[in-house]
Amino acid sequence: MEELISYIQKAVLEISDALKFPDTSYSQNHNSTGDTQLKFDILSDEIITKTLTQCPSLKAIISEEKNEILTVNENAKYIVAYDPLDGSSLMDVNFAIGSIFGIYEQKPSAKNLKAAVYSMYGARLELVICEDTPKLYRLDKNNQFTFIKDLKMEEKGKINATGGTQKFWDEKHSKFIKSLFEENYRLRYSGAMVSDINQILLKGGGIFSYPATKDAPLGKLRAFFEVFPLAFIVEKAGGKTTNGNNQSLLDLEFDAIHATTPCFFGSKYEISKLLEFYNG
Ligand code: AHG
Ligand code: MN
Ligand code: MN
Repeated sequence: MEELISYIQKAVLEISDALKFPDTSYSQNHNSTGDTQLKFDILSDEIITKTLTQCPSLKAIISEEKNEILTVNENAKYIVAYDPLDGSSLMDVNFAIGSIFGIYEQKPSAKNLKAAVYSMYGARLELVICEDTPKLYRLDKNNQFTFIKDLKMEEKGKINATGGTQKFWDEKHSKFIKSLFEENYRLRYSGAMVSDINQILLKGGGIFSYPATKDAPLGKLRAFFEVFPLAFIVEKAGGKTTNGNNQSLLDLEFDAIHATTPCFFGSKYEISKLLEFYNG
């Protein structure tokens, strides 16, 4: 695992360097979810593929930007599912974006998730690495990742980050969101789940929602490389997750590698409140 994580660190450093003088324009191509790919989505996918395929313990990769699973070494142990660039639509406005990685043992299934990692390409390069507990690292002057702190969530937070087009929310979601604002929660939503959840983790609590909507009844966010890795980190930080009905996003099973799900990540208080609004 340490070896694989060191290859992820290498890839993240190369993406961060490339972000200093990037081509922020769109390509002519679409990915499996139908998004038009930025040239930088493609470049960051290529950097990660090139770097991780050198790692002897890598069995296969699943990428947001590849239609199929890519098998590298059938006898090796780990499958890495990744979103090479989360928050692509913020590339032009220079907001913080990141890469998300889920490390699965042998089979891509939430119960085989052994570690999760994300990078934040913000004003500075930071990395959260989580096996047993999420740990925050920051790139130092010597180009090394230095440990900063463990990430822990409180029972209750102050942040409300909710996605999806509001006119397509259903009534229970609208009522739940309204009730949070009535309890003095503040709206914080950038449009990159990795940044929005990173903010909640670092501030110690709050809730990030991407509900089912009338235009996307199965949600927008993708299970293997967005939802599961961030659910793993939030739960290991002491938070809770749900799809609106269940007790953990990590209980969900999907066959399709680009499957999506409604998803909610937060402190214990907000997730229990959500489950009450959703299930009466
Ligand atoms: P990506 O850039 O990898 O396609 O992911 C974008 C995702 C997620 O990061 C974000 O929370 C959500 O899409 C934003 O969607 P809306 O623009 O619908 O809020
Ligand atoms: Mn994404
Ligand atoms: Mn992406």
